[in-house]
Amino acid sequence: MELIIEKTRQGRKGYSLPSPDVPPYTLTDSFVRKGTAELPEVSEPQVMRHFVNLSVLNHHVDRNFYPLGSCTMKYNPKINEETSRLHGFSCIHPLQPELSTQGALRLMYDLGEYLKAIVNLDAITLQPAAGAQGEFTAISMFKAYLNKKRESRKYILVPDSAHGTNPASVNFSGFKPLTLPSSDNGLVDVDKLSVLMTKDVAGLMLTNPNTLGLFEKRVKDITDIVHKKGGLVYLDGANLNALLGITRPGNMGFDAVHFNLHKTFSTPHGGGGPGAGPVAVTEELKSFLPVPVIECREDSYRFNFDLPDSIGKVQSFYGNFLVMVRAYTYLRMVGADGLRGISKSAILNANYIIESLKDDYHLPYADYCMHEGVLSGKKLKDLGLRTLDAAKRLLDFGLHAPTVYFPLIVSEALMIEPTDSETKETLDYFIDTMKRILEEAKKDPESLRTAPHETPVRRLDEVKAIKELVIRWKT
Ligand SMILES: Cc1ncc(COP(=O)(O)O)c(C=O)c1O
Repeated sequence: MELIIEKTRQGRKGYSLPSPDVPPYTLTDSFVRKGTAELPEVSEPQVMRHFVNLSVLNHHVDRNFYPLGSCTMKYNPKINEETSRLHGFSCIHPLQPELSTQGALRLMYDLGEYLKAIVNLDAITLQPAAGAQGEFTAISMFKAYLNKKRESRKYILVPDSAHGTNPASVNFSGFKPLTLPSSDNGLVDVDKLSVLMTKDVAGLMLTNPNTLGLFEKRVKDITDIVHKKGGLVYLDGANLNALLGITRPGNMGFDAVHFNLHKTFSTPHGGGGPGAGPVAVTEELKSFLPVPVIECREDSYRFNFDLPDSIGKVQSFYGNFLVMVRAYTYLRMVGADGLRGISKSAILNANYIIESLKDDYHLPYADYCMHEGVLSGKKLKDLGLRTLDAAKRLLDFGLHAPTVYFPLIVSEALMIEPTDSETKETLDYFIDTMKRILEEAKKDPESLRTAPHETPVRRLDEVKAIKELVIRWKT
């Protein structure tokens, strides 16, 4: 900005701010427009129509069903947007003195207390900005805890069905991942765990319900085995919306758990964030939490930066505060009984879909599922098609696809997460459409292979799109 450089108080080119008596809008001649702006003259209705039409070019949760598995709760109540825009929340500055932000601190403190009660653990940080960062935070705390005990264990066990962020977090925290195989029923092979859990192993990362949507029935045996060998157990709590008010990770023997506020507590996920991935831990791990933690003192809420064993900070300031406001709003809105109802509906909805489709598509692990279920598009493959073809065809019916090709242990996986907030009519429409697509695959495979047909752009070369991303409208 030539202007700023020219008019700085110090009179030299550099980084200093403009003098207060120089209006920042004084432009040098070269920047001043010589002709008219030639802005389009449009009426208000035209502008509105333009933006409304733009907003429906892509698929989103306000248009129709979004059964993407293992990703997000997909219910983003509009009241969350209202509360997070309240001036007192959206216009505070992270460097304001604590005494001038008591409302915000109380909200964060109370949110932490609710989350601790939900999982039955003793202490919490709200700082991590995503589930993956929550994993990294907790496993780094395991590392610091073992270092303090002068134990140099090298590995963390990760089931073969785990989300890819699990082994990545293990590596980032200075351990090496050791794969724990699943048995034929899709659950952890407990006998193999007993063999693999040696003194060299620092602990286990477990997802429960796991990424197949199955509840680890022997979870207490699993946590006991790890603890007996001096290890720690981490719950990848991304699937917590199947457990709310029904059971609590603290009772299952977990030492730490992360929450995906953007999966379980109705906050938007966005393209990989920014979200929030708070981590709750046992008393034993409390002193290793990132700083600051929020405390309720006699007359006020305060940040405590003085944790003796803290792993330090994992995010700037205190994490994504406005995401916390949304989760807090949701928790206050539904209350404790509401939470239990939400998990029950999520489980019922997922089982309704899987039961309805399991004879058409293939069900690789035959058991009741929790809040999501995994089918296989094996029959499509037998017809010379892929799961991706069905996923693309769904768009023509105004539906988003389930997660495809994950978890990796299921060939042609279709991971379906309907969420609790969907009606039976919506679920039925999805089920009927999935059946119709299978019929089409038999009679007219080309219509799947070339799908989608009704969207503003047809099938894209996704690898090319990722590698050579062009996000400009015109070049
Ligand atoms: C099972 C599981 N673990 C971890 C994560 C990572 O969460 P995030 O996307 O917030 O980093 C996800 C996200 O989809 C997940 O499904």
